[in-house]
Amino acid sequence: MFHTYVAFLLLFLGPYNVHGFVKSNQHDKVVTCYVASWAAYRSGNGAFSLENLHPKYCTHLIYAFAGLNASDWTIRSIDPWGDIEKDGIGNYRKMTMLRKQGLKVLLGIGGWNEGSTNYSMMASSSDNRKTFIASTVKFLRTYDFDGLDLDWEFPGNRGGAAYDKQNFVSLVQELRDAFKHYRFLLTAAISANKDIINTGYDIPEISKYLDYIHVMAYDYHGAWNKQVLPNTPLRSKDKLSVEDTIMYLLQEGAPAEKLVLGLAMYGRTFVLTSVPETPKINPIGLPSLHIGFKGPYTSEDGFMGFNEICEALILHPQDWTTGWDNYSSTAYAIKKDHVVVYDDRKAIMMKVEYAKRQKLAGVMIWSIDTDDFRGKCSLQSYPLMKSINIVLANNTVPHEEKKEPNSSSVQLPSNIVFALSIMIISFSVYENIYLYYKELLN
Ligand SMILES: *[C@@H]1O[C@H](CO)[C@@H](O)[C@H](O)[C@H]1NC(C)=O
Ligand SMILES: *[C@@H]1O[C@H](CO)[C@@H](O)[C@H](O)[C@H]1NC(C)=O
Ligand SMILES: *[C@@H]1O[C@H](CO)[C@@H](O)[C@H](O)[C@H]1NC(C)=O
Ligand SMILES: *[C@@H]1O[C@H](CO)[C@@H](O)[C@H](O)[C@H]1NC(C)=O
Ligand SMILES: *[C@@H]1O[C@H](CO)[C@@H](O)[C@H](O)[C@H]1NC(C)=O
Repeated sequence: MFHTYVAFLLLFLGPYNVHGFVKSNQHDKVVTCYVASWAAYRSGNGAFSLENLHPKYCTHLIYAFAGLNASDWTIRSIDPWGDIEKDGIGNYRKMTMLRKQGLKVLLGIGGWNEGSTNYSMMASSSDNRKTFIASTVKFLRTYDFDGLDLDWEFPGNRGGAAYDKQNFVSLVQELRDAFKHYRFLLTAAISANKDIINTGYDIPEISKYLDYIHVMAYDYHGAWNKQVLPNTPLRSKDKLSVEDTIMYLLQEGAPAEKLVLGLAMYGRTFVLTSVPETPKINPIGLPSLHIGFKGPYTSEDGFMGFNEICEALILHPQDWTTGWDNYSSTAYAIKKDHVVVYDDRKAIMMKVEYAKRQKLAGVMIWSIDTDDFRGKCSLQSYPLMKSINIVLANNTVPHEEKKEPNSSSVQLPSNIVFALSIMIISFSVYENIYLYYKELLN
């Protein structure tokens, strides 16, 4: 009888532990982290190699980027030494080895520097698409990737043509067909700009074939505006904001469960046309030059990684005045005529909460190599990635149940178990009494 009881308990507890009552993840959302392969070549503390990556903060990784060989329409490595040869193994294989830790690892193709024209030509011919797709399947298999992320920036723009919009659908559809057999994931990063969305993407059609759509909800503004404006406004009066983009995509027919909200781990920099009388001013709207300043590691005009911003603020706190723009929900810092508008922990957390409220698939990070991955600014490394995961973990009902058996979600099953045990014990008692009397009567 004791054995029946134990077996019964195991039968009941088995599925409870194994099949989804207790989730092994802290949350059920997607956290897709782009890794910029060129970050390895940044100077000093900015240099980011795969050894610096803490993949536990991500569910998906995307290696950025592979390119297109416009001579034969095949996928190609942009940096064969780093991607394939380095340390006798190369970064492609180093990164796909992380699949063993339960992550999905995809290869991104394209990016800003690859332009749009060559992709437009590849997509415009059925033969070229076939060649490209066959080479991609082979490439993904060779390096053991889980799938492909299309980063064509952008169909129908930057030298692309009006017919790109239809050809992009064909490309995505044919990739999906070819990927089925290998169960490869297929995703795409799209612009947050409504005009580019209109000219480049047939949202309902591409939504059918893509697993996820990564919305690059940043670069709304920069020095090119000749005015200090937020890189990533959560909301705005001019319709250029995260909320406006997501609302628009949902309206156009993108399923929320396929939309992944992009988060920027960088700020946009500005040089004011004159030094303000007081640094205790909200700089949003002030006139600026058409080129911003650089950060020490990324060394790109108008751009500063979060790690560069937070290190500047920590190293020279007396030089910088920081503030919060309530309307856009973004942070800024001012030093004389220099301004950087960026997402701090609070700004990032508000965007993650927004993604949760909209029931999106999750969030995407551009890019994990500019978080404070060395922990130079706070007690722990990866403050932004941690904040994202804290907000997401706050989503699903108690996880403490693994350690603490007194959380409410455990109360119910354990009550049932208790009731069942009483029943089993009672039953066994009655059964024994019955057998006893049966024996007596015989
Ligand atoms: C591009 O394709 C051409 C023709 O097949 C080949 O000769 C060349 O080496 C390729 N370039 C790269 C970078 O793979
Ligand atoms: C497009 O392809 C041509 C021909 O191979 C190449 O010279 C050019 O660099 C490519 N464009 C970009 C932006 O990579
Ligand atoms: C900050 O913005 C929120 C949302 O727009 C608004 O409800 C709140 O009143 C604002 N707070 C201040 C101090 O302006
Ligand atoms: C968790 O979410 C609740 C409800 O949205 C909120 O009140 C609370 O502050 C959040 N806790 C953390 C640690 O973010
Ligand atoms: C479990 O119970 C203890 C003591 O009542 C309490 O301090 C603790 O916060 C509880 N933990 C959870 C996860 O409810």
